Amino acid sequence: MKNVFIMTHPLIQHKISRLRDKNTGTNEFRALVEEIAMLMGFEALSDLPLEDVEVETPIETCMTPMISGRKLAVVPILRAGLGMVNGITALVPTAKVGHIGLYRDETTHEPHEYYCKLPSPISERTIVVTDPMLATGGSAVAAVNFIKEHGGKNIKFLSIIAAPEGLEKLHAVHPDVQIYVGHVDRALNKDAYICPGLGDAGDRIFGTK
Ligand code: PRP
Ligand code: URA
Repeated sequence: MKNVFIMTHPLIQHKISRLRDKNTGTNEFRALVEEIAMLMGFEALSDLPLEDVEVETPIETCMTPMISGRKLAVVPILRAGLGMVNGITALVPTAKVGHIGLYRDETTHEPHEYYCKLPSPISERTIVVTDPMLATGGSAVAAVNFIKEHGGKNIKFLSIIAAPEGLEKLHAVHPDVQIYVGHVDRALNKDAYICPGLGDAGDRIFGTK
């Protein structure tokens, strides 16, 4: 699928396996989510444009490449997407951070919006949306709809684990969005949880439940 990138790096796969383990506690879980976000961000930002700038080394003056032009916005889907933000801002400290608050109704599995704020103007920025879990795809589609309604254009979506259903839905509704996924799992269960997955990402990051 064009614009869908599945990660294969052994470090990412190893860390995802640690996340899956139900005996991995909150501290380690948080650290792993941040590290995976950084590794995935490294890949997702490999097309950032460069421009040559003049730098004086201790030896001589030279023209040397630096990140140019477009600024970055990181937009986590609350709550669980928050756990990935520091991994991306460690790579690009000048990034601005927006927030999209969505929760899934436990019965219908439909996303409900409760808070949204984006850096303004958003239209000239490269936007990295983060959410560890892409399950039915409802939250991801709603988040991208919101960003596009506010003028966002160049959008990358980073998800640590995806169900095939969610990945197909996000790609079908928003084929222009570049989707980066750490691992595609088998399926959703009747409660729309990813199998084998890692459970409830928000609860495991924040130690709730
Ligand atoms: C989880 C997850 C995604 C969403 C994925 O959030 O972090 O945002 O579910 O499911 P979907 O693809 O079927 O929409 P949740 O609604 O549990 O909220 P939380 O992060 O606040 O726990
Ligand atoms: N949200 C989660 O946190 N986990 C899932 O498996 C599905 C949605």
